[in-house]
Amino acid sequence: MSEKPLRIAVILGSDREGRFGPVVARWFTERVREHTGGEPDLIDLKEAGLPTSLPAYGTRPQGEVAAAVAAVRERLRAADAFVVVTPEYNHSYPASVKNVIDWYNAEWHAKPVAFVSYGGLSGGLRAVEHLRPVFSEVHATTVRDTVSFHNAWGAFDGDGQPLDPEGPRLAAKLMIDRLLWWGHALQEARAKAPYAA
Ligand SMILES: Cc1cc2nc3c(=O)[nH]c(=O)nc-3n(C[C@H](O)[C@H](O)[C@H](O)COP(=O)(O)O)c2cc1C
Repeated sequence: MSEKPLRIAVILGSDREGRFGPVVARWFTERVREHTGGEPDLIDLKEAGLPTSLPAYGTRPQGEVAAAVAAVRERLRAADAFVVVTPEYNHSYPASVKNVIDWYNAEWHAKPVAFVSYGGLSGGLRAVEHLRPVFSEVHATTVRDTVSFHNAWGAFDGDGQPLDPEGPRLAAKLMIDRLLWWGHALQEARAKAPYAA
């Protein structure tokens, strides 16, 4: 299997004012550093500036949004594997996450996607299960193992560390291991032959 370093992009899905997402994303990017020794690319959808309306078929975005769309495109294209940090809104994932998926297509192809979720009692797992078929439609493969935080706002201390760190740390390690497995396998496969889209 390919030994080339794997580039992981962590997508911070919540973009609302006052969001909790950065606490979860910061904790998870630290797990990636700890476990892989590498620096993930944190794509914060609040800062990305993607428009919420898609362009007409066959056209490209114009004006000031074009640069924002192109910048995210480059970062997604450069990534070999993705982790989506998503909350649960009304038993699913936020519109911001659907928006970034819909803006792009080839950038997701033949790459693995894993999830870190958070929410109330369900820990955001309903958002994750709704995301799996969507990523399948854009030719990505989703990783079985997840990290989830139930009642997330009560699960972290003031320094952004989980109150019960061992369980989430082990879950993150297993999920990252499997993301790396898929990431290396698909990186090698894409290098051997272009993905048939
Ligand atoms: C519009 C909306 C709908 C929500 N629906 C759910 C839900 O169905 N299940 C759940 O567990 N939490 C739900 N929540 C709670 C969120 O998971 C929680 O507020 C979380 O912190 C949101 O992430 P964010 O702060 O990063 O935006 C909802 C929150 C919002 C804003």
